[in-house]
Amino acid sequence: MRMPSLSRLDLRQRIDNLPRINIACLPTPLQEAPNLSNELGVRVLIKREDLTGLAMGGNKVRHMDFCMADAISKGSDVSLNINPWMSNNARIIGAASKKVGMDYVCVAPDSKGRPIQGNLLIQDIMGAELHLLSTSDQSEVMEYTDKLESKLVEHGKTVYNHIKEHMSRSSATISYMDATLELDQQLQNLEGIGNVEVFIASGGAQGGLMLASNSLNLPRNITGVLVGTSEESFADVVTWSNNALNHLGFSERLTWNDVIQLDSYIGPGYAIPSEPCIEAIRMVAELEGIILDPIYTGKVMAAIIDHARNNKFKEDDTVLFMHTGGLPELFNFADELKRRDYK
Ligand SMILES: Cc1ncc(COP(=O)(O)O)c(C=O)c1O
Repeated sequence: MRMPSLSRLDLRQRIDNLPRINIACLPTPLQEAPNLSNELGVRVLIKREDLTGLAMGGNKVRHMDFCMADAISKGSDVSLNINPWMSNNARIIGAASKKVGMDYVCVAPDSKGRPIQGNLLIQDIMGAELHLLSTSDQSEVMEYTDKLESKLVEHGKTVYNHIKEHMSRSSATISYMDATLELDQQLQNLEGIGNVEVFIASGGAQGGLMLASNSLNLPRNITGVLVGTSEESFADVVTWSNNALNHLGFSERLTWNDVIQLDSYIGPGYAIPSEPCIEAIRMVAELEGIILDPIYTGKVMAAIIDHARNNKFKEDDTVLFMHTGGLPELFNFADELKRRDYK
């Protein structure tokens, strides 16, 4: 794929043509990580997407600027979604829905009897209507959710069903095309930036960084790190990106050949922290006082550490780690993450 060459202004105008509200606290800081850089022998910058402000932050907050504008323009008064118990997406959709005055109903498969901790706890505190199901069978979950939607409609509600609405996912890509402009401005204010190796959990945001960097001809490699199999971790870069291209009026299409996706850092599976992930979380906490999460960002940092230790970066590369948040789930993994037992 080759995107048309665009100026920053062209890209900004395309994005500004879409309905948008301002929920995210932007710009997020771009920080040097001097101790980590020293340890790894390569300059590391951290884009603090964990500091986007709403309900403990993360990348998903940026999406809501576009997604909630879409929901409002459709006259919706309730958000309905299916998300697993550990979902950051669920937390942020819930928070953004409440913020714009909508109700929030979340169906969580395979969650009956789970501790009300992490993202589930925050949704509960925000007054979400949680449906914790015992089944994970897709057709049973869909049937349950369809019935729920029909009931809401019978009660006169206008439902924004995040499973069916394109913008719920495409907003990831669109908002990270927008974030590329923000990042570019920040990088221009730093000395000594040449080639930038960007690492992010693979998904819609990766697509946005790729598409925008490509159309602005920026010297960036965007590497997506898989944190589970693509199906488990919703890392469908191509589908979300192409939906986003539609929304922005581009006829170009992304293919899987365009996408750099690493599958060596999944470890035992989605939402199961690997040893390198745990090491990465402890290392960044100890060196920089920055906390990563055990499902997404810990595995991305594990990939960066592995690349540095195996001399895969060039001397003048800058590594840019996208800290996409996910922090509430830290507390569901205390047993794996704590360094020792306290008797
Ligand atoms: C912390 C975190 N990082 C990255 C991602 C990937 O998000 P996306 O597919 O929107 O790029 C997610 C998705 O749930 C997430 O929760």
